[in-house]
Amino acid sequence: MTTFALRPAVPSDAPRIALWMTQPHVRRWWHQGWSVERWAQEITRQAAGEHSMPCVVTLDAEEFAYVELYRVRHDRLAQYYPYDAEDWGVHVAIGDGTRVGRGLGRQLLREVVDTVLRTEPACTRVVAEPDIENTPSVRAFAAAGFLNRGELQLPEKTAVLMVRTRTVQEA
Ligand SMILES: CC(C)(COP(=O)(O)OP(=O)(O)OC[C@H]1O[C@@H](n2cnc3c(N)ncnc32)[C@H](O)[C@@H]1OP(=O)(O)O)[C@@H](O)C(=O)NCCC(=O)NCCS
Repeated sequence: MTTFALRPAVPSDAPRIALWMTQPHVRRWWHQGWSVERWAQEITRQAAGEHSMPCVVTLDAEEFAYVELYRVRHDRLAQYYPYDAEDWGVHVAIGDGTRVGRGLGRQLLREVVDTVLRTEPACTRVVAEPDIENTPSVRAFAAAGFLNRGELQLPEKTAVLMVRTRTVQEA
């Protein structure tokens, strides 16, 4: 069985995250191919605020992905759909290009959502806003139980609002 471990990112993760973000398959969608210094500042900034939590994901003892969890009420996404104050959002990037397209993304997203819903009892929805052209991302979110709730016109992209609602059993 695949076992993921999610931990908060710290500034010393910046070299690895910066490297992941410059990989073509990530950079194309994240547009955050920043320097190590800028990533260290970004992690410090996020960790100090209420908006988002940067995380590093380990798979079988190897760090392989970056996840940002964010509170929609503090995010620009709140302007684009009728959000609930307890909605959380997720951004994801598997840094190692040899590990994409093998079903890991959907498994990771399922586990991330399970963790959010378990640790945030007031949260009933986790959302994402992948670019409509990012087929692997849209498919991975769908395979992880997110439903396509239509298109959103964001400043830099047309996105798909993907929503995973807490199930009756989970409630
Ligand atoms: C998005 C991401 C997390 C998905 O993880 P993954 O492990 O690659 O996803 P999965 O293997 O679970 O699923 C990928 C799906 O896309 C499909 N796919 C992969 N490459 C594709 C392509 N070039 N064109 C069309 N479909 C493609 C796969 O067939 C699979 O769908 P299916 O099994 O339903 O047919 C990962 O690809 C990634 O980190 N990409 C770079 C960063 C990124 O785009 N992040 C998302 C921003 S919202």
